[in-house]
Amino acid sequence: MKMLEKGKIGNLELKNRIILAPMGYHMDNFGPQAHDYFVARAKGGAGLIIAPIGANAPIENPGMLAQFTEENLHEVKRLVHDVHAYGAKFGLQIIPGFGRVLPFGKKHNVPVCASPVPSFRDQNVICYALTIDEIKETVECFREKTILAKKAGVDAIEIHAYGGYLVDCFLSSLWNKRTDEYGGSLENRARFLFELIDVVQNECGKDYPLIVKFCPAHYMDGDGFRTIDEGLKIAKMLEKKGVHMLHVDAGCYERWYLCMPPIYWQEQTLQVRSAEQVKKVVSIPVAVDGKMGHPEKGEAVLQQEKADFLMIARGLLADPEMPNKLYERRADEIAPCIGCNEGCIARVMELKHLTCTVNPTAGRESTFVIKKAEQSKKVLIIGGGPGGLSAAIDAKQAGHAVELWEKTSRLGGLLIAAGRPYFKTEINDLVSYYRLQLCKLGIKVKLCTEATVESILAANPDVVILATGSDPLKPKNISGINGDNVVTAIDVLLDQATLGENLVIVGAGLVGCETALHLTPRGKKITLVEMQPTILPEKIFVQNKTMLTSLLNKDSNILIHTGAKLVRIEKDCVIIEKDRGTLSIPCDIVVLAMGLKAKNPLASQLSGRLPVISVGDCVIPRGILEAVYEAREAIISL
Ligand SMILES: Cc1cc2nc3c(=O)[nH]c(=O)nc-3n(C[C@H](O)[C@H](O)[C@H](O)COP(=O)(O)OP(=O)(O)OC[C@H]3O[C@@H](n4cnc5c(N)ncnc54)[C@H](O)[C@@H]3O)c2cc1C
Ligand SMILES: Cc1cc2nc3c(=O)[nH]c(=O)nc-3n(C[C@H](O)[C@H](O)[C@H](O)COP(=O)(O)O)c2cc1C
Ligand code: SF4
Repeated sequence: MKMLEKGKIGNLELKNRIILAPMGYHMDNFGPQAHDYFVARAKGGAGLIIAPIGANAPIENPGMLAQFTEENLHEVKRLVHDVHAYGAKFGLQIIPGFGRVLPFGKKHNVPVCASPVPSFRDQNVICYALTIDEIKETVECFREKTILAKKAGVDAIEIHAYGGYLVDCFLSSLWNKRTDEYGGSLENRARFLFELIDVVQNECGKDYPLIVKFCPAHYMDGDGFRTIDEGLKIAKMLEKKGVHMLHVDAGCYERWYLCMPPIYWQEQTLQVRSAEQVKKVVSIPVAVDGKMGHPEKGEAVLQQEKADFLMIARGLLADPEMPNKLYERRADEIAPCIGCNEGCIARVMELKHLTCTVNPTAGRESTFVIKKAEQSKKVLIIGGGPGGLSAAIDAKQAGHAVELWEKTSRLGGLLIAAGRPYFKTEINDLVSYYRLQLCKLGIKVKLCTEATVESILAANPDVVILATGSDPLKPKNISGINGDNVVTAIDVLLDQATLGENLVIVGAGLVGCETALHLTPRGKKITLVEMQPTILPEKIFVQNKTMLTSLLNKDSNILIHTGAKLVRIEKDCVIIEKDRGTLSIPCDIVVLAMGLKAKNPLASQLSGRLPVISVGDCVIPRGILEAVYEAREAIISL
């Protein structure tokens, strides 16, 4: 595999082409938690580990960035040493500033930028334009971190210049309207970035491996956003300046989901489109990010010479052992990132340490791991959704005797319905991963086996884990709700319902919206009815929500009524209440997507008779992350 071939960034030789892309992690800076998190990824086989730090300029100091000072220099030295012990290299990404995308500033209260342009979060808030002294001060803060990096024995530095953050604010004519030497021509707009490059070259030498992360194209309509023509000019300028590798990204905050493509982005990402073009105009290596953690996608990009290295962020959160599994030809055992963004970026944005929906150990490498149990127990798991499946894997790895019962003929639980739409197939990768793990671990599974109190007691387990999920909500007091023309979204996704041409979906949360998008390619006309003032009222990470909303808005076969209450269902229409009036919407079929309710009758029936732990949706319907996390907690507690 090309992914596993050696590669060079300047003089720095990497054992393979897999790099842990920088991810803000919000832990203890470089303390034990962060140390173990990074070392786990070096141990897992990545060739280069990149950790981001803030330059800590007085203009702004976003609390989510790791701090690197003389005080924790010894910790970074130890980290470099321990990463090296696994044959990997260690790089630091230095972030000069966030600029107009931060909701606040430090010195000036408002976000800072190259020019007084509207801030990203509030168009009425005008950014503070940095003075030349403040630019120089920021460069000096960057210098401090560069010197520290060199002292710590760090192998490479990456400059963060992408995505509409501070350096990109200077690079882009849209946000840089200056008339001094930092504005105007591309050379002037690039001056700030070039001064940062000078710092690394002066402090560490011109041979010191230097990477620049930038967006050759923002992929935005509208004047001022960068198009690839200018991006290619920047690439050539960076090569001429002596940068050793270009890390190509795409997008900016206005379409942030391009930078961290969520589950709805299944095809090759725009990062690759840019990287391919950049590669044609430079001879230094090009690294690309954007779902490269899917080995077949990453390998194809390298084979087709669209990039030289893969920057993998979320894929190595989901499975730090991914490179080793490739070396050992165990690709089918790689836990897939599903692009949910809930365990990683959503948490970091809330100033919590990063973790991963499919890998609860991420970020808790020493504290939330499965260890061999002192006493092996007979563990019976009821339910084959993500809660039950991950509990079974964890319990087996802890050395317990495990059996899993599932009432249907398939493992996966609600994930089977969730993975049906063409834009959500990564969910199916997760189901396949679980099924294979169960098989390889030799876990006894009984399908088509509905657990009852009697059958559980007869099995005589030491402990029962209940992961029995939920049922669709169906309000009783709505006339017509039990009619033949009413089905649930889950029935529709599982192809268990006969559909007409015109459908009304009641509930425009995640399930209702995804069901609508799943049906329109089949020629269906959909009306979504939502009681709340907006669609997707539940907590969904902003990027996933933005992309899903834009898909819905683009689809002319979907009509949306918000602030609309279902009153009754008739044979060929639904009646809704909206704007204090009633409206009749003709339809062939009514699809209920009104939420889920926990289903856990066995818990009370077994109470006092056996040790029972309930996990996942049968406690409260939420998401995969909670089910997997609670399963891990349950097994650790045994
Ligand atoms: C369309 C759709 C899309 C979704 N998309 C996402 C998403 O993108 N991200 C996300 O995080 N979450 C998503 N969810 C929610 C997610 O699927 C659930 O939160 C998750 O599946 C809950 O896992 P669980 O194991 O607790 O329950 P379930 O997945 O519901 O599994 C419960 C299992 O228990 C079995 N069972 C029940 N009773 C018994 C019994 N007595 N004996 C034996 N077996 C029994 C059931 O047959 C089922 O297989 C989605 C849900 C839907 C419906
Ligand atoms: C939790 C999280 C934090 C991130 N923080 C940074 C960061 O500090 N610096 C940076 O350049 N990119 C950051 N990124 C972006 C990643 O480096 C990468 O470009 C992006 O996630 C796409 O790659 P992926 O699809 O492999 O995740 C972050 C991504 C995630 C998920
Ligand atoms: S939390 Fe979701 S998006 Fe983030 S790494 Fe894990 S699976 Fe991928």
